Amino acid sequence: MAKFNWGVLGAGNIAVRFTNDLKNLPDAQLLGVGSRSLDKAEAFARRQGATRAYGSYEELLRDRDIDAVYVATPHNFHRGHVLLALEHGKAVLCEKPMEANAARVQEMVDAAKRQKCFLMEAMWTRFLPVIAGARQWINEGRIGDIRLVSANFGFRTAWNPEGRLLNLNLAGGATLDVGVYVVSLAHMLLGVPSSIQARAHIGETGVDELTTMMLGYPSGATALLSCAVRANISDGARIYGTEGYIDLPSFWHATTATLQIAGEAPETLSGEAGYHFEAAEVADCVRTGLTESPLMPLEETVAIARTLEEVRHQIGLRYPFE
Ligand SMILES: NC(=O)c1ccc[n+]([C@@H]2O[C@H](COP(=O)([O-])OP(=O)(O)OC[C@H]3O[C@@H](n4cnc5c(N)ncnc54)[C@H](OP(=O)(O)O)[C@@H]3O)[C@@H](O)[C@H]2O)c1
Repeated sequence: MAKFNWGVLGAGNIAVRFTNDLKNLPDAQLLGVGSRSLDKAEAFARRQGATRAYGSYEELLRDRDIDAVYVATPHNFHRGHVLLALEHGKAVLCEKPMEANAARVQEMVDAAKRQKCFLMEAMWTRFLPVIAGARQWINEGRIGDIRLVSANFGFRTAWNPEGRLLNLNLAGGATLDVGVYVVSLAHMLLGVPSSIQARAHIGETGVDELTTMMLGYPSGATALLSCAVRANISDGARIYGTEGYIDLPSFWHATTATLQIAGEAPETLSGEAGYHFEAAEVADCVRTGLTESPLMPLEETVAIARTLEEVRHQIGLRYPFE
């Protein structure tokens, strides 16, 4: 089988990590990288093993040998870069969150459907073997009906008001950067919430540094979620059902899950974490002619964006470009 050729759009932090993990896939390769600076693209290509380096995103997108483009720019540039990639007929894996608000996400989804091109939000957690195993326990009814999902993800970033995480003009803040992980987990397990309550600490730069959310569901279930970019909060998740619970330590890069049913010995499963699982999903979908992934459907990405937008509305966080 011919190798699946990846192009990277934006040679930043996550692009390095994604392309490191791509080396785990024998049937895929990093072919090209596009950066706003040719020097930067060439340095990235040398370090990460790409054979083609471009000094603009357009040149990368004009490369006919590239099968899929990985958009790895700050959140609020995703729309522009994804629309450009779709115009060039490329399959696209777009970093999380898909964009800063739901209208922008919808526009991207509509464009992908119009162009009949593959598009997926890079919510890599969903594709980890341990998450698949935990979902199987749930589907088998091992924990009964889900009543509560508790999930947190936060870290303390260094003080850098210009950097992506704290900068209002770059769609900074905890909700979009890490809140998307806990909200996506809740959507995956419980669907679209019927009620949302949120509170936040807004820091000096105007972005949310720590946000807590309570999502309610028609079934009576609840998701209690928190996220932070200026506090080291825990990053575990626990899924409580009527018959037991599942623990997912560091759920966003889960390598173990434990099933605890009342009165029984705990069961544990383990697996590798990495960005290559989402990359493999993209290649599988594109090769079989799918324009979206059944594991991360576009409709769900839009629903997640709506939840994140409602959270931002409640905590009073609006971006200058909106
Ligand atoms: N999945 C994960 O685990 C994970 C982890 C971290 C981040 N992310 C996501 O990945 C995206 C990028 O995050 P990052 O941490 O990699 O960011 P970053 O290091 O700041 O890199 C972003 C890249 O975007 C490009 N870019 C284009 N226009 C830009 C502008 N006006 N200002 C700044 N950069 C611009 C730059 O590439 P060139 O200079 O080469 O053009 C830059 O290197 C975000 O959406 C974030 O949520 C995901």
